[in-house]
Order: sequence, then C-alpha cells, then structure tokens
Amino acid sequence: MKVFVNKRIPEIGIEMLKKAGLQVILPENENLSYEEWIEYCKNTDTILSVGGDFKYDKNFFDACPNIKAIALYSVGFDHVDIIEAIHRNIPVGNTPDVLSRATSDVAFLLMQSVARRASYNFQKVKEGNWNDFDPLHALGQEIYGKTMGIFGLGRIGFEMAEKAKKAFDMNIIYHNRNHNEEAEKELGAKYVSFDELIENADVLSVHANFTPEHKELFNYSVFEKMKPDAIFINTARGGFHNQKDLYRALLDKKIWGAGLDVTNPEPISPDDPILELSSVCVLPHIGSATIEARNGMAKLAAGNIIAFSKGEKMPHCTNPEVYSRHSS
Ligand code: DGY
Repeated sequence: MKVFVNKRIPEIGIEMLKKAGLQVILPENENLSYEEWIEYCKNTDTILSVGGDFKYDKNFFDACPNIKAIALYSVGFDHVDIIEAIHRNIPVGNTPDVLSRATSDVAFLLMQSVARRASYNFQKVKEGNWNDFDPLHALGQEIYGKTMGIFGLGRIGFEMAEKAKKAFDMNIIYHNRNHNEEAEKELGAKYVSFDELIENADVLSVHANFTPEHKELFNYSVFEKMKPDAIFINTARGGFHNQKDLYRALLDKKIWGAGLDVTNPEPISPDDPILELSSVCVLPHIGSATIEARNGMAKLAAGNIIAFSKGEKMPHCTNPEVYSRHSS
C-alpha cells in the first residue's frame, strides 16, 4: 500500500511506516502547487497529510478517487469536509493529546508576554532603546487571582486552565458545548453562557475546534463587551477572530491586549498594523512545535495509517461513523 507524506515529518514516523511494509512517497520539493499535490494524491492509496494549505473537499475527493484513508498530522481537521469523507467511507485520523501540553504552553506564554508587553520591550532592546528607568512607561499588569475564561474546554483548554490555576490561582470560567466535569471537580471551573464568559474574563483564551459557525465569532461587538483590561488569546484557529475588529478594539481600548499564535489570514502580513501595538504578541502557529509533541504526532499519524493498512480501525479517528457504516 502506498502512503504519500507531503512534507517530511520526524523520522520516527517514516520508520514506522517503512517497517510496516508501506511504500512511502515523499515529494522532492515540498512546496507543492495545488496541481502537483493533486497529481501525487491521484497516485496513492493513503495520505499522511501535513499542514492545512489544501482543502479535502468534494473537488479533491472527485479528483482523487483512489484515496482510501487520510491521517492528518494535526489535531485540527477544519480543512477536511468530514461529511464528504464519511459519505465516501474514508477514515480521517488526527493527533489528539500529544500536543495539548505544548499548545497550552504557548497560550500561557502569550498570556504572560502580553501582560508584560514582552515583545514590545524585546523589540526596544534590539533597536537600542533600553532607556533609563521610567516609572510610567510600558507598564504591564499582574494576573494573579484574576479570571481565566476558556472558550472550548477540551484537552488543550483543560491544560491551559490548570496552568492558570496552579501558577496564578486564577478563577476558571468556561463555555463549551458540554460540561467538563473533570475541570469542574479538579479546578473548580464554572460553566457560564457565552455572554457571561466574555463579560467576566480577564484573560479569554480560545481552545475550541473550529467549525464554520465559529467564523469570526470574536468580532468588534464581542470585544466591546469584554473588560477594558482583558487579554484575548487565540492559539486555536485564526478564523475565530476578525483581525481588523481586534485591531480596532485594541486601538479603541475596548480590550487591553492580544496574544495570537494563529492569525486571520494566516500567515499574517508583515504590514498588518496590529503588529505595531505594544500590547500584542504574535507567533507563527508554533503551538505544537516541540520535539516531544512533533514526535508524538508522527507516531500517532503513522499508527493511524498502519492500522488502516491492516484493516483495523484508526486509533485516533475524527469520523468513526465510517466504521459503523462498514459493519452495518
Ligand atoms: C493542529 O494540530 O491542529 C495544529 O494547529 C497544527 O496544525
């Protein structure tokens, strides 16, 4: 069975695939155009798919009828039309858990960077502007005992909430599709409505799965309802926020600061005026970029392909409905 791996992943994953007797196809040039990518996908049975540049939609599935399984090298699957995949009995695997710690670390890092204006101050140092002690310039804020609002309290949200609780004794409130009993019991997290979340959070951190109904949920009218000292953190998907509105809300002092590991659009333009603000920190989607997380993702993605090749269920599958369809 052939597996197309569109970008090199940690060697441990490639070795697993080869050891399982699979034919691994890696492109010579990894920056494929859409047409080149389709050409590779037409000639393979399975894909270990890295990055979200190209969409797995109806057009894709029509163009590549030989595809039998997709293992994403990501936990997020917003670039896949899952209904279409179910319709065609194509299991789509992902890589949960192994990156929860690393991604929540970045959310926590952004919270502190923004609270203490770290990017702005680092930039000043690099520009030779390490000026005399100034009691009033570029003051940050302390977040001890404040309220952390989590939008989407799953695995990554839980890790972020736990760090906030343990490090800064923050009160945790959250809004989610379902109650998270573990977080309520262990962290004293309180389930609130969306409006209560945005109105009461001192730090609002987004950790939900992105779906089309979330598109630009965080817009000016939401930022306007937040506390003027609030910090907005997004490490999930850029599509959750309207970036022009975020910029305007920061200028209008509707909120205090923002930390983004994901932008809208992505990548962000170097000319985006939001980058000039002293209470903003932007990172280039590095949530899972640790050796540990990336190795873990390689193992899970390879494991999903190998399970499929043996006729077994993918251990981490976004659309397990495909299996009940098979057995019925
Ligand atoms: C994920 O795993 O979804 C990360 O955002 C990398 O795409």
